[in-house]
Amino acid sequence: MELTKPGYSDGDIDTNVSLLPTLNQLADERFSRRQTIMGSLKASALAFMGTSLLAACDDDAQGGNGDSVVNAGEDVTTTTGNLVTLNATSTGGAIGGTTFTQTGGPALTLLTRTATQITFIAPAVSATMQFTFQVVNGGLSDTTVVTVNPATLGFTAVAKNLNDVVTVPAGYSAKVLTALGDPITAAVPAFRNDGTDTDYAQRIGDHGDALYYFGLNAAGARDDASNTRGLLVQNHENLSVQYLHPSGPTNIAAGPRPAAEAIKEIEAHGVSVMELRDASGNRDWATVPASSFNRRITPNTPVAFNGPVRGTSFLVTKFSAAGTEGRGTINNCANGHTNWGTLLTCEENWAGYFRRDNSGAGTDNAVRTPRELTALRRYGVNSSTGNYAWSSATPTQDLFARWDARATGTGATDDYRNEPNHFGWVVEIDPYDPASRPRKRTALGRMGHEGAWISRRVAGQRPAFYMGDDARREYFYKFVSATPWEEADAARTDRLAVGDKYLDNGTLYVAKFNADGTGQWLPLVFGQVPDRAATSSDPAYVFASQADILVNARLAADALGATPMDRPEWTAVNPVTGEVYLTLTNNNATGRPLAGTDAANPRHYIEPVGAGTSIGNPNGHIVRIREGSDNPAATGFLWDIYLFGADSTDAGANVNLSGLTAENDFSSPDGLWFGRSQNPSGQVRPLLWLQTDDSALADRTNNQMLAALPGFVGDGAARTITNTGTGGTTRDQATIVGQPATPANLKRFLTGPKECEITGVDTTPDGRTLFVGIQHPGEDGAAAAPTSNWPQSQAGNASGRPRSGVVAITRNNGGVVGL
Ligand code: FEO
Ligand code: CA
Ligand code: CA
Repeated sequence: MELTKPGYSDGDIDTNVSLLPTLNQLADERFSRRQTIMGSLKASALAFMGTSLLAACDDDAQGGNGDSVVNAGEDVTTTTGNLVTLNATSTGGAIGGTTFTQTGGPALTLLTRTATQITFIAPAVSATMQFTFQVVNGGLSDTTVVTVNPATLGFTAVAKNLNDVVTVPAGYSAKVLTALGDPITAAVPAFRNDGTDTDYAQRIGDHGDALYYFGLNAAGARDDASNTRGLLVQNHENLSVQYLHPSGPTNIAAGPRPAAEAIKEIEAHGVSVMELRDASGNRDWATVPASSFNRRITPNTPVAFNGPVRGTSFLVTKFSAAGTEGRGTINNCANGHTNWGTLLTCEENWAGYFRRDNSGAGTDNAVRTPRELTALRRYGVNSSTGNYAWSSATPTQDLFARWDARATGTGATDDYRNEPNHFGWVVEIDPYDPASRPRKRTALGRMGHEGAWISRRVAGQRPAFYMGDDARREYFYKFVSATPWEEADAARTDRLAVGDKYLDNGTLYVAKFNADGTGQWLPLVFGQVPDRAATSSDPAYVFASQADILVNARLAADALGATPMDRPEWTAVNPVTGEVYLTLTNNNATGRPLAGTDAANPRHYIEPVGAGTSIGNPNGHIVRIREGSDNPAATGFLWDIYLFGADSTDAGANVNLSGLTAENDFSSPDGLWFGRSQNPSGQVRPLLWLQTDDSALADRTNNQMLAALPGFVGDGAARTITNTGTGGTTRDQATIVGQPATPANLKRFLTGPKECEITGVDTTPDGRTLFVGIQHPGEDGAAAAPTSNWPQSQAGNASGRPRSGVVAITRNNGGVVGL
C-alpha cells in the first residue's frame, strides 16, 4: 500500500498523515461492531527515506481476546539520520496507558514522548537493520517494524553558481545568525555598517573563520549534550579593511595611520564568544546579545605563556621582562577543542603584521644576530611596514608600538624585537569563564598554525593534536601529550588547569611521507635534532634548547628532513576509525616545480582558469593517515590520498584522479570537519564536511562546502600519473589514490556568496543544526562599490556593505543535516 504524503516534496519528513485506509476500515468495522473499545488502538508509524515509499502493510493484529484488536500500523523503512515519528491513534476514544517499548535494534534516546507519539532520529547502522516498537494497551499489543538503512548523502547536490547568496539543497534552510559588527553587549549600539561603527572589542569581529559550539544547560553550566543553548566561539582571522571605515582606510600602505582606524582594525581581530538559544526547541536559533558569557578576545587581551618557552629570553619584551605575559592573539584561522571543554585557537599568518624595515644597511638587519635573522627569515617577518602599518599610528601608544619589531633599544626589555615570538602559537581559551586569561601552549610549537585537532578520546591513551602549518612547502605536525587521558578530567571545572596537565608537557612531531605509503613522525626534541644546514641566505642553525626548537619549529623540521607539503590546512579526525585527514589546499609552480613532486604531493599540471591558466597543483588534495596500532602516540603511519580537487570540465585523467563530476568537483580544500560522534553523522560511517578557499575554480563557482562519506586509508590503489609542465614537458610520479569519488560518497551541499571563502563548521551535538562561516564576501570590492551585498542579499536586499557571518542550516524535516 502507498501512503499519501502531503505537504512536502523531498519525501524525508515525518508527518501525521491521513490514516491508513485498510487499517481505518478495519478499525471502523470493529468500532461499529463493538461501540466501546477498551484498549483498541491504531498506531500509524511513519518514517521516510529519500524517495522511497513505505513498505507494504504487513502487520498482523495481535488481538488479546478476539473482541478487540490492537494494530501498530505500517512497517517503515528509513535511513540513518532521518527523523522518525510513531503515532498511536485510537478509533475508540482516548488512549490511556499506551506505551512504546523498544524490543530490538540499537538503543535509542527518544527525542519526544507523549502518550500517543514518540519521535527519534534513525540511528547509525552499518547494514540494514530492523528493530521493533511495541504498542501496548491493556492485554493487547502490536509491533511496528522499523527498518533502518545505512547513511547516505540524502540531499540533492547544489549546482555550481556565482550567485550572491548562500545556497543550500532543497529541503534545507539557512538563517544568518551572526555577522561582523553585531553587538555582544547591550551597551553597544546596533551596527550601522557604514564605516562609522566603533567598539569592535564589543562586537563580532571581521573575517569569521573556524567556529565551535559549546553547550550550556538551562542553568547556564557547561553541558556538552545541550542542543538548545550554547556558546558559539569563532575566530576572526583578518579584515576587509576597505569596509571598516567610511571611505576605506587612511594611509594604509605606509602610514601614518589615524589611531582611531588602527584601534578598530586591531579590535576586529581575535575571537568572539556569543551565546545562542533555540527558545522553541525547533532549531529556531537566535543570539543572546546581552549574555554574560559573551566575550571578545582581541590582540589586546592579556594572555599567559605556558609550556617550555615560558620565561625564556625568546619572550622577553618591554611588556614582559619575565617573558611570561603577552597580549592577545591574531590571525586566528582554524581551531580545535579539548576533551575538557576548552577551545584551541590557532595563530596563522601573524608574521606579516610586524614592521621590520629589513632592507638595506642601517636597518633592523644590521643590529640583529645571524641566529635572529635566520629565524626571522624562516618565518617571513620581513615587512617594512607591517600589515595595516599599525605601528605608524598617531598619536603613538604602546599598543601600536608593539607592532614595530625593530631592535631599536639597548636590549629586549626596551622594545618589541621579540614580539613576533609572542605569536604563532596554539592558544587555549575557556569559553565558559569570561574572566579567564587565555594560555598560549608553547609545547605545541610555533608556526603558521592552521588548526589543532584532537585525536579520538580514549581513556589511557595519550591524546594527540594534529596541526597543519599553512604555507607552501611547510609541514604537518602533531603534538602528543605526555599524559594519558583520564576520563575524570573531562568534567573538571578548572579547565585551564586541565589544559596545563595535557598541553604543557609532551612531544612535538613532524611528518615524513615515504613513497611506499608509510610515514614517520620525527620528534622535535632537543638533542635529537641535528643542526639545520646552511642555506643560500643563512648560516647553519645550531639549536640551543628545547625552547629554541619550539620557537623555531620550522627550522627543526627542516633539519629533520620532514616532507614539505602543498600548504597544510585543516586536520580532521574520523571519530570511528581515528584516521586523520589533512587538506593540502594548493601549490604553484614556484612552490613545487614539475621536478619537485613526491608521492604525497604528486600533481603538477596546467589548469585553464577562465581566459588564463594556473600551474602547479592549483586544485589541491587531501591526504589521510592511519596511525600505527591506531594509537595517536605512534611514530609510524600509513597514508594515501583521499581526494584530489579538480575542475571536472577541464581536467584530464592525470589531473582528475578522483573522478570528480559536476555534482562534486571542487578546488582548494581548506576547512575539514567530521560529524560529532554524539549523533549518527559521526557514527558507524561518519560524515565529512569539506570547505573551499579557492581561486582556480572561481570562474565556475563561488566557494563551496561538500559532504562526504569517506572510506579508509588503503581503499584505493597505487597509481602512476603523468604530470605536465610548461613547454610540453612531462614527468611521471607514483602515488597512492583512494577510492574514486561518486555522487554517493561526495556531493556539493552549499555554495557561498560572491568572493567569499567558506570556513568554519560545527553542529549542535544532535547534528540537526549546522553552523557554517561565510568569510570575506565581496573581498575585492570597495566601500563605494561593494562586490557583494551579503548577508543583506540573503533576504533579497542587494545593497549595503558585505559582512562576514555565520549561518545556521537546518533540515526542514528535522533530521540530521547532510544525511
Ligand atoms: Fe587561514 Fe590557511 O587559512
Ligand atoms: Ca583556513
Ligand atoms: Ca578550470
